[in-house]
Amino acid sequence: MIESGPFERQVVPTADGSLSVYAPAFGEAYHSLNGALRESEHVYIRHGYDQLAACRERLAILEVGFGTGLNALLTWERRLRSAIAVDYTAIEAYPLPIDLALGLDYGRGLHRAGAEDAFTAMHRCPWNQPHRLDGRFTLLKRLARLEDFEPRLDSCDLVYYDAFSPNVQPELWTAAIFERLRAGMRPGALLVTYCAKGEVRRTLRAVGFIVEGLPGPPGKREMTRARRP
Ligand SMILES: C[S@@+](CC[C@H](N)C(=O)[O-])C[C@H]1O[C@@H](n2cnc3c(N)ncnc32)[C@H](O)[C@@H]1O
Repeated sequence: MIESGPFERQVVPTADGSLSVYAPAFGEAYHSLNGALRESEHVYIRHGYDQLAACRERLAILEVGFGTGLNALLTWERRLRSAIAVDYTAIEAYPLPIDLALGLDYGRGLHRAGAEDAFTAMHRCPWNQPHRLDGRFTLLKRLARLEDFEPRLDSCDLVYYDAFSPNVQPELWTAAIFERLRAGMRPGALLVTYCAKGEVRRTLRAVGFIVEGLPGPPGKREMTRARRP
């Protein structure tokens, strides 16, 4: 368990050509080495955002672990395709050094006008203050440990649960944490995560989620999606 940051990080390549970050202190990378971009698109965008965006005018998203900002950037890009408004809150306990984050160049990789500026703004905007990226996308980066975070009741439509794995951070995959997140979610809200561990699914069910296993991104058999009834 890591008690304080910052700690060492190394930029690593992944199989789809996008970069990720490896944290030796956790012994894990921030994304799948089978493809960072493909994993984020598959787990968080396709099986999370796309499931709700079609039938809403506004989405409140909570991300656990802002990290590289890849999930936030992909959500910003997807949002451009419809008239929906997004309020995106991301919790992060150990922010990346800004030069390292910007060097990942995720904005350029998207080939979408404005993406590089959006990615830079996401990293340069201050912590703990809502920042309006454009008329329909607001980002609030909360510098906090998830363990200390109290979500507003019934306020969130979608959770991107992207913590390090339960093998290295078991304290982030407990019933107490998921109970608190569930209380912050509206009825019908979704939680998506790359993690497919049976124990995590049992914990989610125990605190009242309806849980399904879905095909995982390249290199992973399954991922998990949970719905607050
Ligand atoms: C697997 S990485 C994923 C990050 C991000 N979603 C991305 O795509 O780059 C997990 C993230 O959780 C952060 N983290 C670790 N412990 C945390 C805690 N107790 N509370 C909040 N964030 C934490 C790490 O610093 C890291 O940024």
